[in-house]
Amino acid sequence: MLIFLDTANMEEIRQAARLGVVSGITTNPSLVAKERAGDYRAVVREIASIIPGPISAEVLNLETAQGIVRDAREVASWAPNVVVKIPITAAGLEAASALAREGVRTNLTLCFSANQALLAARVGAAYVSPFVGRLDDAGHDGMAVVADIVEIYKRYSFPTQVIAASIRHPMHCVAAAKAGADISTVPYKVLRQMIEHPLTDVGIARFAQDWEQVSAALASRAAL
Ligand code: G3P
Repeated sequence: MLIFLDTANMEEIRQAARLGVVSGITTNPSLVAKERAGDYRAVVREIASIIPGPISAEVLNLETAQGIVRDAREVASWAPNVVVKIPITAAGLEAASALAREGVRTNLTLCFSANQALLAARVGAAYVSPFVGRLDDAGHDGMAVVADIVEIYKRYSFPTQVIAASIRHPMHCVAAAKAGADISTVPYKVLRQMIEHPLTDVGIARFAQDWEQVSAALASRAAL
């Protein structure tokens, strides 16, 4: 399973890129707005220049399929690795289907059911993003939806990749990997939580302490 970072924060993206574990970025209008960055295009282009993998950038014009297609063509032109994120609605599906015929890669987002994911695969989306945390918040089993989508895609050999999104904690990531998701897109905070373990810190401190004792003993023996 690949790890994407779910953020529009440049500092987080740069830090994560240095770790070498992040294969792509997902953003959404809320994440971009949080950064108070005025120029959407400039933000997406900068992210795309830092991370060579797929960068999901969402369309903002959702009125009609034609409007989404126009917006998507514009967003896709910003960098070669940009994937256009489109919410799953009737207009979104119509637009995604037209865009697939033009070779524009899409990530169908705000997916909350296996049926929505089935339709995303049928229109030729490159990715589908089930929102695990928001399903859990609403009293559903978000990861069960991911597992259903993975099973259906496997049974019919759909090439659409499953991005487990709306990941809230490290165990979501483990569960997504076990469910067979292709990708988990995680907030920076969760990535840090995945790295850290208190026993790793305890182990490092103990190794250092033991090493210091042995070095001191060797040094005093050499002095005799
Ligand atoms: O990738 C989707 C994600 O940004 C939504 O996360 O935490 O707002 O549900 P959240």
